[in-house]
Amino acid sequence: MRKTSRNSLEMSDMVKGKKIAIAVSGGIACYKIAEMVRELVKNGALVRVMMTKSAQQFVSPLTFSTLTGNEVLTDLFGHDVVGAVHIEWARWPDIIVVAPATANTVAKLANGLADNAVTTTILAATVPVLICPAMNKQMYANPFYQQNQQRLADLGYTIIQPEQGELACGEVGWGRLADVQDIIDAVVQRLTLPKDLAGKKIIITAGPTREFLDPVRFLSNRSSGKMGYALAARAACRGADVILISGPTLLRPFRSVRCIAVESAMEMTEAVAHELDDADVLIGAAAVSDYRPAKRDSEKIKRTGEQAVLELTENPDVLLQAAVAKKKRLHVGFAVETSEEIRHAGEKLRSKKLDFIVINNPNEPGAGFEVDTNKVTLLYPDGLTEPLELMNKFVLADIILDRIADRLQTLHR
Ligand code: CTP
Repeated sequence: MRKTSRNSLEMSDMVKGKKIAIAVSGGIACYKIAEMVRELVKNGALVRVMMTKSAQQFVSPLTFSTLTGNEVLTDLFGHDVVGAVHIEWARWPDIIVVAPATANTVAKLANGLADNAVTTTILAATVPVLICPAMNKQMYANPFYQQNQQRLADLGYTIIQPEQGELACGEVGWGRLADVQDIIDAVVQRLTLPKDLAGKKIIITAGPTREFLDPVRFLSNRSSGKMGYALAARAACRGADVILISGPTLLRPFRSVRCIAVESAMEMTEAVAHELDDADVLIGAAAVSDYRPAKRDSEKIKRTGEQAVLELTENPDVLLQAAVAKKKRLHVGFAVETSEEIRHAGEKLRSKKLDFIVINNPNEPGAGFEVDTNKVTLLYPDGLTEPLELMNKFVLADIILDRIADRLQTLHR
């Protein structure tokens, strides 16, 4: 699936006001950190950067002080701070991200060395630390390095594994700094509290489905997948083990979400059935096509000059099928209704045995397809309704997950 940067509205909901200290050590990947800092600052995070001496050979501290509006810590001495500067810096952030983390810096941290501004500050810090290694593939594979990295992992540091690919040295292998968006996702995930969905397996269907007529044409709909992807990201942040079963979209799934890409309603039904047995929650946010062409031509259909009639066969209903062996699992559905919303959605809620249903009317301004906001009403089996304001899909995702977390607690009490 293609990686695209998330839009700023979604990001700012998650990082606004958070204090993020970024420790930059000396590797060519330093230049990527400027982009990361810019993205975080643009979205309202408060960012401070500290640099090792070799990092300053790759990027000037001026780059980071300009981007953050804050002084860059390069040395422990010569500051106006009353007391020790590294203690003030260690106390300030909500999280520390070491990126890129060189083999040398990882070795120092793993052995408690404190010989520069970065290592001294981290040694004095008690907040979560994310380590994002970047180095040559042989250095990465070196047993000394691997032992050091393992030691940090065992001590509770989070390691954001590097990627495989072409390295700055020209070699190809493991060692390239993780994608900047993945690092930001990891920061967001680490900062998010509460972890009230920890240990819960949540399946989320998202996006449209494609029902092919021939190799190049299909029936589909306007779903962008944004609501399902927002639910997946927030559920993962709250500790859930998330399986996102997605039709084709332009979105990138949140880092720790397991995404199963499907195209048709039949594929989506199969994928859900395969994952369902040990799941705690199923959320149907996909706009599943109710019908598919009765036959799929293996060749491109030619124009005949005459009227063409398309015969359609009914697709399975993913939520309806899952309802058969529901047991204690929670099921949540979405309903797109343009008239008599409560009555129509109520029928779906009952027939699909849902625990609640999220009703949206795409005719409301700011609601529905291809937009970042949604205005919905939640409907419960006892007929109670909970109308919600127009809001960002990420904020709405958290409210839906709050209701799910409440119900899970009651179920397991
Ligand atoms: N749904 C599903 N499988 C389908 C169709 C819908 O799982 N084949 C799920 C959707 O993901 C959503 C809910 O059922 O959570 C309601 O979808 P919607 O299309 O609004 O309802 P339908 O039951 O298909 O009814 P209709 O299109 O006739 O309004």
